[in-house]
Amino acid sequence: MKFVVAIDGTASSGKSSTARLLAKKLGFSHLDTGAMYRAVTYLLLKRKAVEADDKLLQEILLQAPLDFILKNKKLYVHLNGKLLKDELRSPEVDKWVSPVAEKAIVRAFLVAKQRQLGRNRKLVCEGRDIGSVVFPDAGLKVFMACSLDERARRRQKELEEKEISRTIDEVKANLARRDDIDSGRKISPLVNTPDAFFLETTKLTIDRQVDIIYQEVLTRIERTERQEGQK
Ligand code: DC
Repeated sequence: MKFVVAIDGTASSGKSSTARLLAKKLGFSHLDTGAMYRAVTYLLLKRKAVEADDKLLQEILLQAPLDFILKNKKLYVHLNGKLLKDELRSPEVDKWVSPVAEKAIVRAFLVAKQRQLGRNRKLVCEGRDIGSVVFPDAGLKVFMACSLDERARRRQKELEEKEISRTIDEVKANLARRDDIDSGRKISPLVNTPDAFFLETTKLTIDRQVDIIYQEVLTRIERTERQEGQK
């Protein structure tokens, strides 16, 4: 049986932690598509090409020494054979990733890879356009929302853990700017599709968020199995 849980939401709404823990609880693979946009952004920053025109962008992507591998139910991103991890979460990548993710060429390149990675799998996939574009037939679509204040608090804590110091206003401004670009872009903007399960997480703990979605997945799987049994 294949089953996709598509989780979309704003930056720092808790998608990644929720998706990771949910995938573990379900025994599904976890695909963090934000990491893929971050990897392309990291590569473009290295090549000093974040503002490249479409022609150059196409050339770079066609020969990009990037590998996206789902192994042990997790995504691993390699650049020139080297595993990328913390590099993907630097303030520089944070700053440039939304403008890079606006580009049609980048999206087409990554959406094709995401569909390939998800083929015939049990998958928890998170991003901005997962339920709307990448996996519109997902067994469950979730849209996660959270207040800007709470998201900024979570993101600042994450940065502190990496010894990166930013004021709360700086963090808030970065998140608000990314939200605007991600929700306002022409291609595949972040949208809450009418068939998505809406989850407001401002006052929820991560465990509670995971549990709510987990129960919903079980309900949907049971329903699907019942319907298939009746055929
Ligand atoms: O989830 P994240 O913050 O790591 O995502 C980084 C950026 O990538 C985000 O600002 C928008 C973009 N993104 C996207 O456009 N579509 C996705 N499916 C995932 C991420």
